[in-house]
Amino acid sequence: MTANDKTPDITPCTDIEFGSYPSLQGRTILVTGGGSGIGASIVTRFAALGARVAFIDIDEEASHTLIKSIEKTNVDYSPLFRGVDIKNLDKLTSAIKELETEIGSFQVLVNNAANDTRHSIEDVTPETWRDALSVNLDHQFFAVQAVIKGMKKAGGGSIINMGSMSWRIGLDQLSAYVTAKSAIEGLTNGLARELGPDNIRVNCITPGFIKTERQVKLWLTPELEKIIYDGQCLKELIEPEYVANLVAFLASDDSRMCTSSVFAVNGGWI
Ligand SMILES: NC(=O)c1ccc[n+]([C@@H]2O[C@H](COP(=O)([O-])OP(=O)(O)OC[C@H]3O[C@@H](n4cnc5c(N)ncnc54)[C@H](O)[C@@H]3O)[C@@H](O)[C@H]2O)c1
Repeated sequence: MTANDKTPDITPCTDIEFGSYPSLQGRTILVTGGGSGIGASIVTRFAALGARVAFIDIDEEASHTLIKSIEKTNVDYSPLFRGVDIKNLDKLTSAIKELETEIGSFQVLVNNAANDTRHSIEDVTPETWRDALSVNLDHQFFAVQAVIKGMKKAGGGSIINMGSMSWRIGLDQLSAYVTAKSAIEGLTNGLARELGPDNIRVNCITPGFIKTERQVKLWLTPELEKIIYDGQCLKELIEPEYVANLVAFLASDDSRMCTSSVFAVNGGWI
C-alpha cells in the first residue's frame, strides 16, 4: 500500500491559534477581490490583526455581509469597501485614489481578484481571451502602478500577487487563466527588481486547491477530491485561512528580507 492509497481521515484543525503580527497593527492594506473566497479570509485576518484594511470587489452583497460579520468581532478598524469591476482600469485607479484619501497611502497591496471560469479552446474568441486576461492579469499591474507613489512616500511596502499552481500541472479548460497565472510570476520578479531600491517587496503566492465556497459549489466532485488527495502529501482539503496566514506573514515586517519569490500553499502537491 502506498501513502496515496490511504483513505484521508484527518479532521481539519479548528482550534489552532494563528500567529499575530504586531507590525500589522494600523497598517494600511488594500485587497482586491476581498468580498468572498480567499480574499474574504485575507480581509478578515487583517482586520483581526488590527490593520486598516480596504477592499474592492464586484460582489456588493457578499462584501457588505462580510463587513457586518467582521464588525461583530469588535475589530479596531472596520474594513472600507468599494464596489468596482477591476476590469475597468480607470474605475479601479479612481477607487484606489479615493480610498487613499480616506485611510492614507497603502503600505500593503494584495492583488487577489480573479475568475477561473472554464472554457474549451474552441470556444475562446479574441473578446473572451482579452476578458480573461483582463480579470486575471491586467488589474494586478495597474493596481501596483496606482499604489507605488504612496508606498514610496511611506518608506516602503509589500505587494502580494495571487498566482496559482494550475499552470504547473496543466489544468485543462483554463488556457487563458493559466496563461495569466504564469505571467503573474514573471510580473512579480520584474516589479520586485524595479521596486526593491524603494524598499517595496513583491512576492507571489501560488495556492493549490483551496476549499472556498465557489470551488466546492462549482468544481469539487468525488473524482476531483481523489485527484487532490493523490497529489497532495497532506491528506486534507486546504481551508482559505491557510492562504491568509501566508499573506499576513508576507505583509508583515517578519518577512522583510523576502522578495521576488513564489510561495506555495498546496499541501505538497507539486
Ligand atoms: N480557490 C482555489 O482553489 C485557488 C487556487 C489557485 C489560485 N487561486 C487564486 O486565489 C485568488 C482567490 O481565489 P478564490 O478561489 O477566492 O476566488 P473566488 O472566485 O472565490 O473569489 C474571487 C473574488 O474576486 C471577485 N471578483 C471577480 N471578478 C471581479 C471583478 N471583475 N471585479 C472585482 N472583483 C471581482 C469576486 O467577486 C470574488 O469575491 C485568485 O487569484 C485565484 O486565482 C485560488
